[in-house]
Amino acid sequence: MRFSEAFLDELRSKNDIETVVSSYVQLRRSGRLLSGLCPFHGEKTPSFYIYPETQSYYCFGCGAGGDVITFIRTAENLSYADAVQLLANRAGMAMPEDQVDDGTVALRKRCYAANREAAKFFHTQLHSDMGKEGLAYFLSRGLQPATIRHFGLGFAPNEWTALTKHLRSLGFRDDELIQFNLARKSKNGGAYDAFRNRVIFPIIDLQGNVVAFGGRVLDDTKPKYLNSSDTIAYKKSRGVFALNFAKNSDEKELILCEGYMDVIALHQAGFTNAVAGLGTALTEEQALLLSRYAQQVNICYDSDEAGRKAAEKAVRVFSKINVKIKVLQLSGGKDPDEIIKNHGPEKMRAILSGAMNDTEFQLSRAKENLSLETEDDKLSYANEAVKILASVPNPIERDLYASKISEETGVAKPTILAQIDRQRRNHQKNKQKEQFLSIEKEMSSFAKSEFYPPGTPVRTRKAEEQLLASLFHSPDFLQVACADLQGTDFSSQTNRTIFERLTALIAQSHHPSIHDFNDCLTPSEMGHLSKILSSSEKLGNSPKECRDCVCVIKESPSSIPPTGAGHLSDDEFLKLFHK
Ligand code: GTP
Ligand code: MN
Repeated sequence: MRFSEAFLDELRSKNDIETVVSSYVQLRRSGRLLSGLCPFHGEKTPSFYIYPETQSYYCFGCGAGGDVITFIRTAENLSYADAVQLLANRAGMAMPEDQVDDGTVALRKRCYAANREAAKFFHTQLHSDMGKEGLAYFLSRGLQPATIRHFGLGFAPNEWTALTKHLRSLGFRDDELIQFNLARKSKNGGAYDAFRNRVIFPIIDLQGNVVAFGGRVLDDTKPKYLNSSDTIAYKKSRGVFALNFAKNSDEKELILCEGYMDVIALHQAGFTNAVAGLGTALTEEQALLLSRYAQQVNICYDSDEAGRKAAEKAVRVFSKINVKIKVLQLSGGKDPDEIIKNHGPEKMRAILSGAMNDTEFQLSRAKENLSLETEDDKLSYANEAVKILASVPNPIERDLYASKISEETGVAKPTILAQIDRQRRNHQKNKQKEQFLSIEKEMSSFAKSEFYPPGTPVRTRKAEEQLLASLFHSPDFLQVACADLQGTDFSSQTNRTIFERLTALIAQSHHPSIHDFNDCLTPSEMGHLSKILSSSEKLGNSPKECRDCVCVIKESPSSIPPTGAGHLSDDEFLKLFHK
């Protein structure tokens, strides 16, 4: 789908990349550039750069890059057209009337509409005769009517086609309901309700759309919870329950729990910063999302073994991400819902204030199955503790815990500290080795880039990239230096696409910028282009150098495969659908 040049120009001028990105990433100025922690992969030192002059970004850690539209596509997981729509809304611009939809926008809208109607239907059922049992269930779990309304809770009747019939009457087709996971296909080709005889928890995204549902049985039958799987409007691995509410709470902290009922009980008790993952182990995507809305995440998983294992895993996922972590030690119930019901919100507040930091949590885990009465136990605890403390960066903190461990195990403090030091020196050596390996990897990544057919000489790749970068800065070199160069001379399909668009733009006397490539490159190819442009700052830039590049490019046999989907890389294949 193509938007008019004038429309896109206005869109970009009203969505300055620095302003848009700064609501996702804390940016710091470094010279003419801005830098921050990359929102697309976990990291603790910034390798994500904004180039205000070209209105582009590039991450040296993961290779993500592009312009403001690519950024929104990647950050919000949207199609090109949807990203444009979001930026238009943000800037208060109307979308051009004559744009024909490429299908996804309309389908996603349809999915939102069906889910919204389904949520209304479930909520209405809860207050009808058929839903009496559901309402009684929620009340028996201590929910107040206002809480039920706030979360839009509902009930799916104990029938095969209650929702399906209702949505049909509103004009939705069976195949749509099946595609949106609201219904399943029956053997005779019809459709039946996906949720039956369950209380319903709607899942709402950050824009306020109902995107999925969780449903719980009223008794002890299995499975206890049923969660929607992915659709065009919902990706479970990015979903966080109640973040739509929690992001508005004034707290700088979030409480991360295991289940829907825990979150709802916490909100009802005044902890409106509680959220939950949706029945899967915490993913890096979810952790990154949480880090965007909080400086500290309090992990509040169940106190059983499964919950503690899950907390350990979550601590590991968060360790790559720049957000403070505390792990709560639950007591007085197995989960927050029980604790609040048994002991009231005060107990929960006390637990929150006594939260352990990650070192304390790991030490307490190491001690869990040991009595510390026998010499054997003391020894294994001391060894385990030394391992944990060796990765604590702060020396004062290490000293503090060393004293404690010395008291608990009877091992002299200097011995413990000496062991910690020895382990830290080993770590240091390993780290140096890792750094060396990563430099090596970076070198070979150039040789292995997915954008070139295997075997393309590094010399050819460099020449192609340098030439493309020069043409961005000095379009007039096209005439002077590249008169006999053609797209087919390039070794990679992506570089060929870039070159051909460049020559077309220059022929129209249009000074090229990265924005002109959004509709002919995929987001990962935009990253490739961004990298080319970001390294071009160091380039010498003369017609002579361009001609040298052209010679190198012409020397190497073109290895662009004949077209035909079988020969295409994933990216190239995807591109067929993006045009
Ligand atoms: P109740 O208090 O008994 O309603 O449940 P809970 O809130 O204590 O949740 P529990 O610890 O049993 O589970 C935590 C979360 O894991 C739930 O909110 C669900 O998202 C998920 N979950 C639990 N049981 C199931 C199941 O049988 N299937 C699936 N897919 N998810 C489940
Ligand atoms: Mn529970």
